[in-house]
Amino acid sequence: MSALVVRAARTSDVSAVNRICFETGYSEQEVTGLRPTPDLLGLVWADPYLAFAPEWCRVAVDGRGVAGYLLAVPSTRDFDRWAHAAWWPLLSADHPADEPGLSPADRAVARLLASPPVSPEHLLDRFPAHLHVDLLPRARGRGLARRLIDDLVDRLAAAGVPGVHLGVSPRNATAIGVYEHLGFERLDVQPETIWMGRRTGA
Ligand SMILES: CC(C)(COP(=O)(O)OP(=O)(O)OC[C@H]1O[C@@H](n2cnc3c(N)ncnc32)[C@H](O)[C@@H]1OP(=O)(O)O)[C@@H](O)C(=O)NCCC(=O)NCCS
Repeated sequence: MSALVVRAARTSDVSAVNRICFETGYSEQEVTGLRPTPDLLGLVWADPYLAFAPEWCRVAVDGRGVAGYLLAVPSTRDFDRWAHAAWWPLLSADHPADEPGLSPADRAVARLLASPPVSPEHLLDRFPAHLHVDLLPRARGRGLARRLIDDLVDRLAAAGVPGVHLGVSPRNATAIGVYEHLGFERLDVQPETIWMGRRTGA
C-alpha cells in the first residue's frame, strides 16, 4: 500500500477528478441499470469546483495516481452566482434533457444541469462554505477524509469563514457516520438529501 500524498488540485487534475466522481457516484446496480456516460456526472459535482476555485480543492495521490479528492468553495452564494452565469447555461445547452435516446442516468444529469442543485438558503449564513469528498476504495479507511476535512476547516477558519456544509444521501450510512464522527451536525433532512454542517471556530 503506497503512501497518500495530499496536494493542492490543479486544473490538469480535472479528468482524474471527473473519473473518481463517476466511479464513486453510482452504485454497481445503477451503473448496470441506468447506463451512465462516464464523464457526465462530474459536470455537476466535480468539474465546476476546479474551474471556480482550484485553490480550495485538494487531491490525494498515491503510486497509481489520483485516488481521491476534496472539492470546496468558501462561499456557496458566490459559487452559485458564478455557476448560474458561466457554467450551467453552457452545459445545459450542450446536454438537453429532452434529447431522445438518453439513458436514465444521463437524463437525470441533464435535468440537474438545467435545474442545478442548491443548498438550503437558511443554512448559508452560519455555514457559507460547502464541500464534496470522494475517495476510491483503495484510499478509504486510512484517515484521509479526516485529514482533508480537518485541513479544509483550518483553512476556512484562517480565512474567517464560520462554517462548512455538505449534502449526503440518506442511503449513504457510511458517509453519514463518518461526518457525524468528524463533528458535523444534521441541519436539514430532506427525502433525498441530509444537509450537515460543521463550524470552523472563526
Ligand atoms: C465517506 C468517505 C469519504 C470516508 O473517507 P475515509 O477516508 O474512509 O474516512 P476516514 O478513514 O478519514 O475516517 C474518518 C473517521 O470516521 C470513522 N469512521 C469510519 N467509518 C465510520 C462509520 N461508519 N461510522 C462512524 N465513524 C466512522 C473512522 O474511524 C475515522 O475516525 P478517527 O479519525 O477518529 O480514527 C469514503 O468512504 C468515500 O469516499 N466513500 C465513497 C464516496 C462517498 O460516499 N463520498 C461521500 C459522498 S457525500
